Amino acid sequence: MMSPPLVPAEPAAAGDGTPYSAIFDDVYHASHGALAQARHVFLAGNDLPGEYARWSDADSFVILETGFGLGLNFLVTWQAWRESKAKGRLHFLSVEKHPFRRDDLAALLASHAELAPLSAELLRQWPPLTPGFHRLHFDHGAVTLTLLLGDAQALLPQLVAGVDAVYLDGFAPAKNPELWSPALISSITRACKAGATLATWSVAGELRRALEQAGWQLERRAGFAPKREMLVGRLENAVTCPRSGIPGMQSKPAPTFHLPQLPHQRRAIVIGAGLAGTAISERLASRGWHIELFERQDAPAQEASGNPAGILLPHLAKDDALAARLSRACFLYALRRVKDLAGVRWSPCGVLQVARDAAHETLQRDTVRELELPPDFAAFLERDAATALIGRQVAHGGWWFPGGGWVSPGSVCATLLAAGGVQMHLHFGSEVASLRKYSGGWQALDADGELLASAPHVILANAHAASRLLPQALPLTPIRGQISCLPQDIAERIDPPFRHVLCRSGYVTPPQAGVVCVGASFDSGETDLGIRLADHAANMQRLDELLPGAAQGIDPARLGGRVGLRCAAPDRLPLIGNLPDTTAVAGSSPSLDTLPREAGLHALLGLSARGMVWAPLAAELLASQLSGEPWPVERELARAVDPARFHLRALRRGTAGL
Ligand SMILES: Cc1cc2nc3c(=O)[nH]c(=O)nc-3n(C[C@H](O)[C@H](O)[C@H](O)COP(=O)(O)OP(=O)(O)OC[C@H]3O[C@@H](n4cnc5c(N)ncnc54)[C@H](O)[C@@H]3O)c2cc1C
Ligand SMILES: C[S@@+](CC[C@H](N)C(=O)[O-])C[C@H]1O[C@@H](n2cnc3c(N)ncnc32)[C@H](O)[C@@H]1O
Repeated sequence: MMSPPLVPAEPAAAGDGTPYSAIFDDVYHASHGALAQARHVFLAGNDLPGEYARWSDADSFVILETGFGLGLNFLVTWQAWRESKAKGRLHFLSVEKHPFRRDDLAALLASHAELAPLSAELLRQWPPLTPGFHRLHFDHGAVTLTLLLGDAQALLPQLVAGVDAVYLDGFAPAKNPELWSPALISSITRACKAGATLATWSVAGELRRALEQAGWQLERRAGFAPKREMLVGRLENAVTCPRSGIPGMQSKPAPTFHLPQLPHQRRAIVIGAGLAGTAISERLASRGWHIELFERQDAPAQEASGNPAGILLPHLAKDDALAARLSRACFLYALRRVKDLAGVRWSPCGVLQVARDAAHETLQRDTVRELELPPDFAAFLERDAATALIGRQVAHGGWWFPGGGWVSPGSVCATLLAAGGVQMHLHFGSEVASLRKYSGGWQALDADGELLASAPHVILANAHAASRLLPQALPLTPIRGQISCLPQDIAERIDPPFRHVLCRSGYVTPPQAGVVCVGASFDSGETDLGIRLADHAANMQRLDELLPGAAQGIDPARLGGRVGLRCAAPDRLPLIGNLPDTTAVAGSSPSLDTLPREAGLHALLGLSARGMVWAPLAAELLASQLSGEPWPVERELARAVDPARFHLRALRRGTAGL
């Protein structure tokens, strides 16, 4: 389903200066003090932090809010979390239909000086206003904000989470009825654990009836001025999905979930130390997991992830189909991650994707216009503007991604391994030859059948080599790719020099340490790793297409280069999650929710030609699934990358196991 473009909120103030919404004709908070209201209604109303703080001992504590607005409830909660010195992780999920633009939010938050350090951090990470989920990490991951940008009615049913506390904070029910409707209350309730609490300043009769109907036990307490009363509630029994086992995980439609793990089971074997394996190892280690990481090469990032530079750009589609939405979420998350990882070599120099021809140019222009994409995410530059940007004539206009750029995948892998610290045991030059199930989970064995490690979980992050470890091959195809590197003396001859990544049918990165990378060939099914002069020549044609004349006189034999194998599924989407048990009987009408799974066996595979874009959020999704934490993407996006999708299709066609 295409998400409608976001309509940002316009800042305005009521007569007394309280922030006001013209769309809803209401104020954002009580005029007697926003922060005091947040503490009285939402924190105290949910018994947070309290003398026996509910959240102090939790591995993770999850708050769900309707209406992010200025983010004051979030900031006050984060402040209280910091002061309470809670040990676990705080997840704050908040849905917002009309988010403020960054500058407007900054101006509004400026009047709350006591929150300044937290506001600054929020503003630093504030995403471009695109629809969907956006996950932001603060305080080294101790606090995670997942913004659900769009209409709560569409997004809350897409949430997979086990919520502990709810803040109901829409505008007045009479002015904003859809945010208090029985349908929305029921979506929220389905996301709550048993024992969850809620608080709101509204005591409207219709709301109380909807809450009671959904199973909440309500109590009126003294309200925050000028309101005499407010409402708090407690949910004794959660709606539990039998498959997920996660109390509160929404059961209708049932989530595609993979068993939540208890703290003592937080141990995993990860196979492969490329972008996928290092990303999932670090995400799990940051949640206290112990990782045994096996890599057959003597160092990380020696295979597909070993190029000197790859480009970071999203995939756009006019219908904003699932793949485009996922790619956008992954791209924006990847940018936030590389910014936060000190040690990564990269440059947010911007990417210009020049249209292939006139028809493609029209499609690009229409896509940006119809999706109303914000310019800090993507813009369409007409030919003249594109020409001015790169300082040379281009044949067509193109998409401009100002936040995109190039990144060194090897430096990402090394930084992630360093960040994992003592939680990770690294085994280089160690190939896992087979896997064996045992009562405690999985054993990894070497070629002599000797035990390498055992753990309740195994994560296959070893690209197309994964199939060799499974009873049934995964539909993964290797795609050979060769890049060409222009040595410094040749790169320096490119005149005028260029500062942005350019792409069309190929790509070229601006010089780094004098070297320019041009890519890449694309040979499906080929696995030969030798350099081919013909591929260098084809890359020079790609360069000439992007920078006319730049490839003139270059002898392919003088070029450096590298060959890698991309690993792609038929739909070009990654495989993220719990693998199916292909030997089990699937029942008469199998679905992703009912399909038997291999307990403890997970995939992070099929990153295809966009590993730098997919890997960070893919790892965050899998780590969230394994740790029983809220998912960072919509349920339907997680289903699109469920590794069981191919087995399900085969079962439906009646061809499984053939
Ligand atoms: C030419 C080319 C250009 C590209 N350009 C871009 C780009 O511009 N932007 C972008 O986003 N992406 C790009 N990609 C794609 C990106 O590089 C890949 O998607 C990504 O590197 C895949 O990471 P991975 O960890 O899944 O695989 P790999 O990096 O291949 O990692 C898998 C690891 O598993 C190890 N392994 C395998 N079997 C075993 C075993 N049994 N035991 C132990 N270890 C094992 C391997 O040694 C390997 O290190 C490009 C790829 C190529 C080939
Ligand atoms: C009272 S304000 C929230 C204030 C906020 N909690 C804070 O701490 O600053 C209500 C918010 O709900 C948002 N909202 C209203 N209807 C919505 C809907 N259908 N889906 C998502 N958000 C909605 C409004 O845009 C507004 O930002």
